[in-house]
Amino acid sequence: MNLSTKYLGLTLENPLVVGASPFCDNVATARQLQDAGAAAIVMRSLFEEQIDAEQRALLYHVETPAESTAEATSFFPGFSEYQLTPDHYLRQISSLKASLTIPVIASLNGCRPGGWTEYAKRFEAAGADAVELNLYQLVSDRAVAGDQIEADMLETVASVVRSVKIPVAVKLSPFHTSPAHFVAELEGVGAKGVVVFNRFYQPDFNIDDLEVQPQLRLSDPTELLLRLRWLAILSPNMQGSLSASGGVHATEDIVKALLAGAHTVQLVSVLLRNGPRILTSLIGGLKHWLSERGYENVDQLRGALNLKHCPDPSAFERANYIRILQSWRV
Ligand SMILES: Cc1cc2nc3c(=O)[nH]c(=O)nc-3n(C[C@H](O)[C@H](O)[C@H](O)COP(=O)(O)O)c2cc1C
Repeated sequence: MNLSTKYLGLTLENPLVVGASPFCDNVATARQLQDAGAAAIVMRSLFEEQIDAEQRALLYHVETPAESTAEATSFFPGFSEYQLTPDHYLRQISSLKASLTIPVIASLNGCRPGGWTEYAKRFEAAGADAVELNLYQLVSDRAVAGDQIEADMLETVASVVRSVKIPVAVKLSPFHTSPAHFVAELEGVGAKGVVVFNRFYQPDFNIDDLEVQPQLRLSDPTELLLRLRWLAILSPNMQGSLSASGGVHATEDIVKALLAGAHTVQLVSVLLRNGPRILTSLIGGLKHWLSERGYENVDQLRGALNLKHCPDPSAFERANYIRILQSWRV
């Protein structure tokens, strides 16, 4: 059974990629993931704020300005709260590359144009095979319009793409007004792939202490449904690659993502819960599923239920929304 797949122009042994997470902070752990079958790994992100803060600190030491910028950045974590400093991050890319045979994808996280995007070039020089740019943005300023946000994002992507020869994937939020149009624009500025989607960690309310509580909940397979819809809508018109991130926990989830048009699936929560060896059983499960149904490779399956190929395309669209609401009787 041939599970190999192309992703961002890289040939991967199978579609299972370890998503951006702390797994690659440790080379031995990354090795275990590779040995268990991971076809590529994405490192945790290096953040725009983190790079900016370091560059400002350097400037501060050189120029010692009168006014401090600490106030403006005080909502963000201090240096010590980030797990990897920018220098450490570059060294980690080299260490991973020296120890692994699978592609290493380094991750940048930010959405405003600026000097921090040059780090993509340093990632490339350190040996990264690709860059994943996470455009995580939460806009609460009512003075800022959506088109301005997207224009900044596109400029950011364009400047990362310009600075490297390795492929750049963009990890997207599901909250764009017209995701298909935005993805077309991303491809227009040179993105070689899109990862759907970012997960937003929603803070909860503690009603006893009247506090807002940030929390990190691992995903479950219900989160995949949002991804399936958009993979299915995006895949017929994409030139580049598509990766599903969020809610992939079982062999069936991998099959569904492929049917919707994904080239790869990214896994994090399932690995945090079960450890690297779950990869081996997921790969075995995928082979079994394919061979039982007479498929010889994953390309035969890819996109079979996307908007272009599925028997009822309206299932993805407004028509189905209306039908579903009308079908409920009390
Ligand atoms: C502990 C943890 C750390 C993460 N760190 C990052 C990160 O640095 N950059 C990023 O783009 N996504 C990060 N993510 C998000 C994952 O890459 C992934 O998109 C998300 O967990 C959904 O996939 P899952 O359902 O397989 O968990 C992190 C997730 C977890 C649980």
